[in-house]
Amino acid sequence: MMNRKNGPMPRRAEPERQVIAVTDPSPYPPVEVDQKNTHLLVPLSLDLASASGELTAIYQYIYQSILLQESYPVIADTLRRIAIVEMHHMNILGQIMVKLGGSPRAISQFGGRATPWNGTMPSYTKEIKQMLQVDLKSEQDTYHRYLLQAHRISDPNISSILRRIALDEEIHIKIFERFLTEL
Ligand SMILES: [Fe+2]
Repeated sequence: MMNRKNGPMPRRAEPERQVIAVTDPSPYPPVEVDQKNTHLLVPLSLDLASASGELTAIYQYIYQSILLQESYPVIADTLRRIAIVEMHHMNILGQIMVKLGGSPRAISQFGGRATPWNGTMPSYTKEIKQMLQVDLKSEQDTYHRYLLQAHRISDPNISSILRRIALDEEIHIKIFERFLTEL
């Protein structure tokens, strides 16, 4: 069937696509720091590159999205879009690290030890319920870590950015909770 003005028509109506919001609507604060302070690179390196950091979340969600594309297209699409939000978080954290006098290396610092990010950090479960449970737990942990850091870090610019990022993680928590109840 052709529509003369607009070209080919879809053969049949597509089922209405469910688009779930994956970010909080409030704007991100500007990426600014009070002054260079390399001590603050330590907690930010955990946010970026530890086993529970943004890089792990990005890889894990894209992996899961690939596996679920056929069987759970709405969940797969949502995971892919959440991964893009985490990528945005990674970009913001990296910019803060540069302004603090460091660089956004995929190496986390904890207790005086440097741990390179690596491919064993994401969960590779193939079972949908387990995927969502792992995702929910890591979003909850991340959310609490951001709020704790925002409370402890003495630079108010960084604290407000971390609180804003935590709002997105709160949305992700609700999404995973909802998916788990709908399975
Ligand atoms: Fe998240």
